[in-house]
Parts: sequence; C-alpha cells; structure tokens
Amino acid sequence: MKVLVTGGAGYIGSHACLELLEAGYEVVVIDSLVNSSVESLRRVERLTGKSLTFCKADIANRDTLTELFTNHKFVAVMHFAGLKAVGESVQQPLRYYQNNISGSLVLFEVMQKAGVKTLIFSSSATVYGAPESLPIKESAAVGTTNPYGSTKLFIEYMLKDLFVADDSWRIALLRYFNPVGAHVSGQIGEDPNGPPNNLMPYISQVAVGKLNKLNVYGTDYPTQDGTGVRDYIHVVDLVRGHIAALRVLSALEEGEVITANLGTGNGQSVLEMVEAFELASKKPVPYEVAPRREGDIAECWADSSYAADRLDWRAEYGVARMCEDAWRWQKNNPKGY
Ligand code: NAD
Ligand code: UFG
Repeated sequence: MKVLVTGGAGYIGSHACLELLEAGYEVVVIDSLVNSSVESLRRVERLTGKSLTFCKADIANRDTLTELFTNHKFVAVMHFAGLKAVGESVQQPLRYYQNNISGSLVLFEVMQKAGVKTLIFSSSATVYGAPESLPIKESAAVGTTNPYGSTKLFIEYMLKDLFVADDSWRIALLRYFNPVGAHVSGQIGEDPNGPPNNLMPYISQVAVGKLNKLNVYGTDYPTQDGTGVRDYIHVVDLVRGHIAALRVLSALEEGEVITANLGTGNGQSVLEMVEAFELASKKPVPYEVAPRREGDIAECWADSSYAADRLDWRAEYGVARMCEDAWRWQKNNPKGY
C-alpha cells in the first residue's frame, strides 16, 4: 500500500515517512525542499532499512504531480507541504496564499482526476484563533489572526466543500497543537532556517550554546506563572495519529470528513518547558523577560477526547520525553542536517 507524502522531507513529514515505512506502507515523497533537506529522507531510509521514492518538486507543478499519480497507485495522500512561519506570513501574505492554497488546490484536483480520494491534511490549532474556553473542542468557533492561519482554515473549507460535492472523499483534518521533540534515534528532528520562531527549538539552541538566551515573551498572562501556556505534543505521537487516521479512513464504508484535534490535553507554561529542558539536557537555559509577542494568546490546550474515541489514538509521551528526544537531536546535530 503506497502513500504519497507531500512535504515529506520536513520536520513532521520525515517522522511520518519513518512511521509509515515501519508500519509496512510504501512511501513516495514530493517536496520542493523550500524549508528542508533531502538528508532527512536519507536518514529515514537508514533508520528503517527501507527505501522510499523522492521527487523534488513543488506540489503546484501539475504535470509532475499527474505523472506521479500515473506512475504509482496511491491508497492515500498525507499532505504536509506548506509554509508555516506565522510572522513571515504577515510580511509575505501573497507568497503564503500562493504556496499553501494554490499548491493544495492543484494537489486536490490531481487527486480527484486520479480517483485517489483519501487525504490526511495538516491543519492547526491556529484555526481556533483566541479560544473562548478551554480545553478546545473541535466544535469551538474558528477564526484566524494571520495569513498562515487563514490558509489552514481556507484549505479546511475547500475540503469540506469538495466533500459536499462528492461524498466519496475520505478526509481527515488533523488540527495539531504544538509539535515538539524528535525521533528517539536523535537522527531526525526539527531543523529551522535561521533563529527559530518557536519555543522548543529556541530553547534547544540556547542549551547547545548556539544562542545566548531565550526571550520569554510576556510574564503577565493570567496563567500559573504569567507565561504563555501551550499543549506540546511529541512529534512521534503526532505522526502516529496520522497512521491511526489512515487506518480509520481506509476502513470507512462511505466517505466522511473527520476533524480531530491532536494534542495531549495538558498545558505547559514557557517556564515549565525551560525547567523540563534543563532537567533533560543538564544544561542551563538562561532567559530574559521580554514584552509579549504580538498576536500571542495566553493559553491553549486541546480536548483530545474525539481523537481517542474516533481514531483510537492517544498521545503517550510526556514533556520529559519530548525534551530528552529534542535534546538528543540537537546535541548530535548542532548545525542541523
Ligand atoms: P516543515 O517546513 O518542516 O515541512 C514542510 C515541508 O513542506 C518542507 O519540507 C517544505 O520544503 C515543503 N513544502 C512547502 N511548500 C511546498 C510546496 N509548495 N511544494 C512542495 N513542498 C513544499 O514544517 P512542519 O513543521 O513539518 O509542518 C508540516 C505541516 O504541518 C505544515 O503544513 C504545517 O503548516 C503544519 N503544522 C505545523 C505545526 C508546527 O508547529 N510544526 C503546527 C500545526 C500545523
Ligand atoms: N515563546 C517565548 N519565546 C520564544 C518563542 C516562544 O516565550 O522565543 C512563547 C510564546 O510566547 C508562547 C509559547 O512560547 O507562549 C509557544 O510559542 P511557539 O512560537 O512555540 O508556538 P505558538 O503556540 O505561538 O504557535 C505554534 C505554531 C503555529 C501553530 C500553533 C498551534 O508556530 O503555527 O503553534 O499549533 F498554529
């Protein structure tokens, strides 16, 4: 059974490829490498002892995609390809709309033509905007605060509309909370270009001595210690949620759109993450208090009971393990891939 993984060379996609190969699937990756290196895929092959097919192309390239669907019989597509930096999306909205929305549109059209109608899409908790209550259920109001988030929400709408028009599609919209950590081997992990925007890679780079100190964005939020609270989820748990979704979609007798949060259901503050990382790495993580970051919310964590019921999936790893694995990756690969 062959799966097309878009964005498979990236952080989450490479972990998904590894998990798919280990679960016995064949894997074809399409990735433009705009934010990744093919080295991640070489390492996935080494770790699993299995090979995958790699195609370096943009998903907006209709001819290449069509050729892939002609040459391979896919049972499903896992769609990770997309640009994901919130701040950058505010600066370059058209690039984000072009890349994320137009690219997805071409992919869905080619899938429809090829009759491959099983899709797992990387959505995000960002579609909830500033949540009205916690934990966040899938039924919560949606609304976005930046172009990146808008692309995720709009792609969800596109897929829901597609299902209305053709109810044979089997679609999982997986809304990720905050993916962190790395494969236990320390061979694949998150490799941001330039200084990281996100907390966990920033902390890792401070611990390894690449950056001097962490800026803690705001200590006056109405949270346990005044710093922002998020639902951090181990990337391996996250990709196992995709395999679970693939199994459920494949077993459906008729089409459906399943929308599910992938989170742990727990919230950790910035300072709790710093402490957990210091414990795991045995390295100091110096920090300084900085003003709030524009657009940040105080708290966000998932009600993940629907994924438990519907996908028979639960996150297994806690924060200590997320930090240990992130640290192993960082210290083995101080310069990334
Ligand atoms: P990533 O940047 O590491 O991976 C994305 C991959 O897609 C990269 O390899 C990039 O080169 C590729 N890509 C981007 N645009 C492409 C295009 N048009 N054609 C072909 N390849 C393209 O990011 P990630 O953290 O692995 O995220 C994967 C997906 O999950 C993204 O869609 C992201 O928006 C979503 N997501 C991520 C997070 C997070 O915090 N990491 C949270 C929620 C949702
Ligand atoms: N933070 C700092 N210092 C930093 C970076 C972050 O204090 O250098 C704080 C933030 O203020 C926030 C928390 O750490 O309180 C987490 O911030 P991240 O940037 O790691 O994560 P966000 O929750 O802001 O956003 C991430 C992704 C979004 C995605 C969202 C939900 O960047 O794309 O998770 O999935 F939508």
